[in-house]
Amino acid sequence: MAVTLITGASSGLGYGLAPYMAADGDTVILTARRLESLQQLAEKIREKGGKAVPVALDVTDPAAVRAAVAAIERDHGPVDTLIANAGIGADTSALRWRSEDLERVYRTNVFGVSHCIEAVLPGMIARRQGHLVAVASLAGYRGLPASGAYASSKAAVISLMESLRVELRGHGVRVTTLSPGFVKTELTAKNRFPMPFLMELDDAARLMHRAIRRQKSEYRFPWTLASVITLARFLPNRLWDYLLRNRKVIKAE
Ligand SMILES: NC(=O)c1ccc[n+]([C@@H]2O[C@H](COP(=O)([O-])OP(=O)(O)OC[C@H]3O[C@@H](n4cnc5c(N)ncnc54)[C@H](OP(=O)(O)O)[C@@H]3O)[C@@H](O)[C@H]2O)c1
Repeated sequence: MAVTLITGASSGLGYGLAPYMAADGDTVILTARRLESLQQLAEKIREKGGKAVPVALDVTDPAAVRAAVAAIERDHGPVDTLIANAGIGADTSALRWRSEDLERVYRTNVFGVSHCIEAVLPGMIARRQGHLVAVASLAGYRGLPASGAYASSKAAVISLMESLRVELRGHGVRVTTLSPGFVKTELTAKNRFPMPFLMELDDAARLMHRAIRRQKSEYRFPWTLASVITLARFLPNRLWDYLLRNRKVIKAE
């Protein structure tokens, strides 16, 4: 039976995606810091006949990640699919820029992904089998106002996963980058700006599940916002800056 390890499964996209992976017969290892929520989700999955194991884990702690993966692989077998989904948002205006905000975001969104990959990848390479999945964001494709830390962390994930993908081609390890637009979760509930093409959680989870099973190299969704962003990558900076001029006005403190 395949083992899928999901980070950030206590809410939002990870919480929504896990039951789909379990419905395929995978043993899903549900990880995040909030154990109670993971236990509730595990119970929900088991009620439907699936296999789920809740594990409290902070992805910013590399030693904890290594120890958790070792224990998971000892008890349940090798991790076949890693879904590095845990992430945090942050409002980081240029008008009150602080490096520590960027560090906090990178610790989870970038180093958290790296710690998980570091723990599972050697085994995958040795077995010549495995699937690395990371959840980036459409925000990673162009700079956005008040989003320097978050957008650049997702750009880093996109580039990291692509770099791994091209190198792991001959090693039997698949790499998938998922880049959602706006989805209704705890993360976006904090946003105070309009979110075009905002998706329901279950619709997003279903699309992510399909992209993972099809082993897509990169999947951007919803197609509406993904098309806009794809086009936006080719817009001259002057036009991009103009289009975003009113997106967020924050007064300097
Ligand atoms: N929602 C969107 O519109 C959207 C769009 C593009 C990309 N994304 C990305 O999708 C991913 C999931 O976000 P979401 O929208 O589902 O937000 P969410 O509901 O806030 O979920 C974030 C998850 O990450 C976990 N997490 C945060 N810090 C962690 C840490 N240090 N260690 C372990 N787990 C941690 C949280 O669990 P605990 O607090 O229990 O640890 C939670 O389960 C993120 O990477 C986000 O950037 C979301």
